[in-house]
Amino acid sequence: MEALNIQGGKALRGELTVQGAKNSVLPLLAATLLGSGRSVIRNCPGLTDVTASLDILRHLGCSVETVGDTVAVDAGTLRACEIPEALMRAMRSSVIFLGPLLARLGMAGMCYPGGCELGPRPIDLHLEALRALGSEVSEGTDGLRCAAVCLRGSDIALSLPSVGATENAMLAATAAKGVTTIQNAAREPEIVQLQDFLRSMGADVRGAGTSVITVRGSGGRPLDGGEVTVMGDRIVAATYLSCAAAAGGEICLKGVDYCQLSPVSAILAEAGCLVRSKGDEITLKRDPALPLKAVRPVRTAPYPGFPTDAQAPVMASLCTARGATMFVENMFSSRYRHIDELRKMGADIRTEGRVAVVCGVERLHAAALEAHDLRGGAALAVAALGAEGESTIYGLRHIRRGYADLVRDLTALDAKVYLAEKE
Ligand code: UD1
Repeated sequence: MEALNIQGGKALRGELTVQGAKNSVLPLLAATLLGSGRSVIRNCPGLTDVTASLDILRHLGCSVETVGDTVAVDAGTLRACEIPEALMRAMRSSVIFLGPLLARLGMAGMCYPGGCELGPRPIDLHLEALRALGSEVSEGTDGLRCAAVCLRGSDIALSLPSVGATENAMLAATAAKGVTTIQNAAREPEIVQLQDFLRSMGADVRGAGTSVITVRGSGGRPLDGGEVTVMGDRIVAATYLSCAAAAGGEICLKGVDYCQLSPVSAILAEAGCLVRSKGDEITLKRDPALPLKAVRPVRTAPYPGFPTDAQAPVMASLCTARGATMFVENMFSSRYRHIDELRKMGADIRTEGRVAVVCGVERLHAAALEAHDLRGGAALAVAALGAEGESTIYGLRHIRRGYADLVRDLTALDAKVYLAEKE
């Protein structure tokens, strides 16, 4: 079995350009279905979730061409409206294809995405939004079927600002007859990028980045192909900042928007790191001889709050901070699976329900670790870089869903890391 080996206790130095954002590229790939022409997406990260999305697009009849990190999708030949179970299983976020399929073909079918490593992942808000737009939704034991003769613009009030439900509603609404208003929309930067792409395809969408999004639908006419360059991944950037916070040293990350990272950089600065930004670069410096300090409670929240996806990496970096830091995970019920692994390294973390309290220890020691989910797996790399000795991380398939090449990136930051086959 392939494992990642990390030699800890060595300060990081260097710079790198952060990969394109997973949470941006997935809805963008789904959005290509709305165009009758060729769409071009640049700076696509080489992730297993991207490969799975491209497989779905091909299955649906699109022609897909990949040259380097640019992907061209021609959805003019779209013919199928069902995603088979094997392809659905390869990627949990495939529910994002419902809206565009319904918009283009008036029908969509798939099995349930089901739960995931983070606990149950309901899709009730996605389905409510599609119903509001005039789709019939039937939910059977074998899966979901959506059908609409003609989608019609509607007022959709989300009971919570779900990222995926906001995106699905936007995507379906582009083909509706009339105007759709999405209230309590998620405000994540990935939604702004989706709006930019939809506009490049000729859609009339406004308000992304605020909690009210308005879409004037095309009345069933397909959009044109569009163009977009995927923005830098703020969660990958938060992970690498956490790595440097844990190990010490000085790193510079390029290609990320500092403003999107401010909830994370504020915590790392409070812990004693020096964080600076210039243009699209962000640097973090930490003297390895000085321990970090505990910080005020970290509560995860929808954007612009502290991102749930950065909770595990930041927690890993604070395991050796002086004092106690409280984390409150408000977004997902099973997002503390990295904690047992961190305890194997000597971390002192107590949990009760949504709350975890990290009591800083003098140092972490190397251990054999298992990644149970994407960001929790990345957090183990953060901890291992700050620990004494060589740690081994198993379960790399989780990490590869969101990090295109962790070994390449950490090596660029002067870390001692390598992949090896282990029993
Ligand atoms: C997206 C991100 C994920 C991130 C999450 C929260 C992608 C591909 N994934 O996931 O990395 O952790 O946002 O920032 O962009 N909910 C419902 N009913 C629904 C939908 C969601 O109750 O129909 C709940 C969820 O259980 C969760 C909360 O809403 O508690 C937020 O989930 P949501 O914003 O939808 O996350 P995703 O879009 O799945």
